[in-house]
Amino acid sequence: MRTMSPWWIRIPFIFFLIFGLVEYYVDSGDKPAFIEYPMVQLFLLMVLLILIAIELIVKSVENVLFQTLPEEAKERYLNAKSASWEWAWGKRMYKKLLGSKPIEEEGEIILDHNYDGIKELDNKLPPWWVYLFYATILFGVVYLARFHVFNDYDQAREYEMEVAAAQAAIEEYRKTAKDLVDVNTVTLLTDASDINAGRLIFETNCVVCHMADGGGGIGPNLTDEYWIQGGGIKNVFRTISEGGRDGKGMIAWKQTLKPAEMAQVASYVLSFQGTTPANPKAPEGEIWIDENAPQDQNPQEESASDSTTVALNEQ
Ligand code: HEC
Repeated sequence: MRTMSPWWIRIPFIFFLIFGLVEYYVDSGDKPAFIEYPMVQLFLLMVLLILIAIELIVKSVENVLFQTLPEEAKERYLNAKSASWEWAWGKRMYKKLLGSKPIEEEGEIILDHNYDGIKELDNKLPPWWVYLFYATILFGVVYLARFHVFNDYDQAREYEMEVAAAQAAIEEYRKTAKDLVDVNTVTLLTDASDINAGRLIFETNCVVCHMADGGGGIGPNLTDEYWIQGGGIKNVFRTISEGGRDGKGMIAWKQTLKPAEMAQVASYVLSFQGTTPANPKAPEGEIWIDENAPQDQNPQEESASDSTTVALNEQ
């Protein structure tokens, strides 16, 4: 039986052909099909196993047929086989890379050291090792040029790039998993869709006590800059989630609302800031200053607001 191409070309060739066809015909959006649909991985694995099985069967059939050949034909077959180019090329390459002298020619390289009958051969360095060594020199030159001469980038910049990429990936993930937010990670949402969702939640749950315009009733005024439990998205989120002070009437909403919904309604509550409600309730609490806000913009502000800070929450 004459084989046209060796198995290590045949199997990958057919495999990647089928792989390519699958990718071409299976519509999987912008991700490759084998990532989008894990079934495809299973299918490709099956294809690979079947291809290997076919090769093994062909091999064993060949083997059985070989056993039935007469001696002389066997020899011819083996000769033809070892003359096939891949085999010959592989053997030649192996010998070349090893670079050792055949045992018959060792006489040429024997040294005249003789330690109690132990003699030394002056073998050349094996070419595979020498080439590897040259490759490291080449690598070193390229590395030196890139990172020390042209300053392509350094570790610090690489680190920053990776952190930025990771941050972007986290952002991306957060968008799909909004319920992951908690009081530590919540940020002010500004998307119109989030604010609208927040308004719906507010109108269903909160207006009875805070009024539709946030002016306050049973609950405090949410439009002014005075806060009993602290302003800013994190404090507001925490108040909504955990409730107000005991006995004041503001329940913990975490039983009723999902984290994402609390983030939305908290953002909506903060959108009241600076608006003028129809019947504003008198301020309660203290003016809240964001500690994380850039403070050096207006150095007077802190001392000025200190003196105007009033504790009105004792009623
Ligand atoms: C039963 C009436 C009631 C309802 C309903 C209610 N609240 Fe309140 N809310 C209050 C009271 C009373 C306080 C003051 C709590 C305190 O003094 O500790 C308060 C406080 C707050 C505060 C803190 C204000 C500050 O100055 O620190 C926020 C924010 C708030 N509510 C948001 C909401 C949101 C959002 C909803 C709807 C999901 C809601 N509330 C529903 C009664 C209510």
